[in-house]
Parts: sequence; C-alpha cells; structure tokens
Amino acid sequence: MNTILPNIKTGKKQHPMTQKRIAQLIDQLADTHMIPVDDLRYLLDHICVEDTSYLFDTAHKVKQPYYQNRVFLRGLIEISNYCSKGCHYCGINRTNKNVQRYRLDKETILECCRRGYDLGYKTFVLQAGEDPALTDEFLCEVIKSIKTTYPDSRISLSLGERSFASYIALYQAGADRYLLRHETASKRLYEHLHPNDSSFENRRQCLDNLKVIGYQTGSGCMVGSPSQTNDDIVQDLLYLHQLQPHMVGVGPYLCHEDTLLRGNQSGTLLETYIILALVRLILPQAMLPATTALGTLDKLGRENALFVGANVMMPNIGPKEYLEAYQIYQNKQLAKDTDESNRDNTKKRIEAFGHIADFSVGDVHTWEG
Ligand code: 5AD
Repeated sequence: MNTILPNIKTGKKQHPMTQKRIAQLIDQLADTHMIPVDDLRYLLDHICVEDTSYLFDTAHKVKQPYYQNRVFLRGLIEISNYCSKGCHYCGINRTNKNVQRYRLDKETILECCRRGYDLGYKTFVLQAGEDPALTDEFLCEVIKSIKTTYPDSRISLSLGERSFASYIALYQAGADRYLLRHETASKRLYEHLHPNDSSFENRRQCLDNLKVIGYQTGSGCMVGSPSQTNDDIVQDLLYLHQLQPHMVGVGPYLCHEDTLLRGNQSGTLLETYIILALVRLILPQAMLPATTALGTLDKLGRENALFVGANVMMPNIGPKEYLEAYQIYQNKQLAKDTDESNRDNTKKRIEAFGHIADFSVGDVHTWEG
C-alpha cells in the first residue's frame, strides 16, 4: 500500500477555504516554481479531486510560453533486456526467469534508426537494462555510426548507472542526452524498492556526473509505489527543483507479478497526473514525456497527459518480435502496428487532442519557444 494523496484516494469533498488555499499555492508554484516545504506537504495532504482542474489548467498554461501545444516525438529502441540489477518492482530484473532475454546487434539497431529516420524521427532513444555486454566499445561504435549517417539527429541513452569514464566516452562518441530516473529521492523508499547492492548515493552521483559532462539529463520517479508517502513525494519535488534536469519521466508504479513486490496496488492515473502537473510547475521548460505506463492505465492516458503538462511522446520503433520481452510492468501497451501506422496514429491522436506533433530535434536548452 502507498499512502499518498489521501483525499484523492478517498474522494473526500473539498472545503471551500481549503480550496482557496490550494489554489493560492498552485499560483505561487506557477510564479516562483517552488514553495516552502510545509506548503508542498500541505498541498499533497489536502488536495481533492475538485482542485485538480485548476492544477492541470495551470500546468498546461505554464508550458505554453515555451512549447505551446507542441508534442516532441522520439523514436524508442529497446536494445537489450538483460539486466544485472534486482529492482524489486521491475519485470526485467535479473531474478525473473520468465523473461526471454535478447540483445540487438549493431546492424539491427542501425536498421531501426534507418526506418525511424525515414519516418521523420530525429531523436533515437536507446534504452536497455543494465547489460554488462553493452560495453563502451560497442556503444561508441553504434553511436558514431548513427551520428555519421544522420548528423542532424540526436541520441538519447537510457542504459542505467555507468562509470564517469563511460558516460564521458559515450558523450564524446556523440550521445546528446541521458535518461536516468532517480526513482525516488527518499533513501528509505529507495532501499525498500531496491536490493542491498543498489546504492541511493551512486544513483544521484550518476545524475550529477551526467549533468557535469554536458548531457541533457533526464531524471524522474514512479508514483504510487509500495509504501510511498507524501513525504517521499515532497522529497522528489525538492530534489527535481535542486537538480534542474532537462527531462523528467513521471509514471505510475504498475505492479508486476513476477517481482518481489507482487500483489501490491498500482499507482493511479489521477495520482500520476497530479505529480506530473506539479513537476511542470516546478520545471516549466523541462521535457516531460507522456509515459507509456500512463497509456497502460488508460487507452488515452498519454493523450490526456498533454493537458497536465506533458510535451513528449516516445513511440517504439524497435523490432516487433522483442516488444513482448521488454515488460518492465505488465500489460504494457505494445506498438504492434507497423512503425508507419503507429507514427500516423500517434500523430492523429495528438492532433485530435488539439496538439501538434513536432518531429524536430527539440533540444531543451536551445529551444526558444
Ligand atoms: N512500474 C512502473 N514503472 C516501472 N519502471 C520499472 N518497473 C516499473 C514498474 N513495475 C520504470 C522505472 C525505470 C523506468 C525505465 O521504468 O522508473 O527507471
């Protein structure tokens, strides 16, 4: 069980005085991008369903000067589901024997990029478990080949914790961005969700290293994970404000039955939207993906996220035969259509929701709005 956002859970009716106070805090966050810790805590403790439309509208407004209604599209390639980590929530953790493990070779990755580029994608997100076989040598070769063939493209990596030297090597080879969710900024919760050989401190060190090296850096967390409290979320919001990442992935925790945390409740759509909207208020210029996990909770979970602050989508352009094997959580929405119809449908849905699909590189730090 988690104990976040109690009034959202119970559907408690809001008191008008409290509603006024919550609206003030939302305004203050929109203006100054941070409020005192006690006020953050008050907001999470007292927010009711009646307050959410004001929160969502404000989050939507805050991104307008920078991004208007643009949604940046990135092509996601899941290059390996081998993982040496034992995260208690993740379906591809090292102890799950029910996973069919795969690793793409260089030619397959380049073929995905070729198809992706032809479809208009300018960013390739290479994502994997922490696979020791993904050596610097292999990755640098892949990165250099992509950059040589498509000099106007961007490469985002999402390969977990690596050494400082490795991050430098990959950056020098041409990688532009790195996504590494901090998962939770609460040491207690981090240790509840991870085995002893995972280090809370090292994960943060990695994020600092990525920023220092010059990557456009992405962090993020899960909402509604087992035993998560409002205090833990306050810490996430403070940490994100302090780190000032360029990207933040926020998604619901979704229970996977092949993990140690089996049998737990998943996070909900509304809870996740609330945290996503708060992150938008704190980081008005960040790239915030409408995550696949939101699409798993609701068919239109991602599209609706565009109205609470999200501005990125990452359609999968990897080989279809491996989609099923990359189940970090269960019932993951799989892009079984051809890449072309997947792109067209994503674009259509974005437009049907009053937004514009943007296939430009969309670098956060140079974006003028
Ligand atoms: N539910 C939701 N998100 C998950 N992730 C991993 N397992 C799960 C799960 N069961 C998220 C983690 C990780 C990202 C790639 O996916 O936050 O950083």
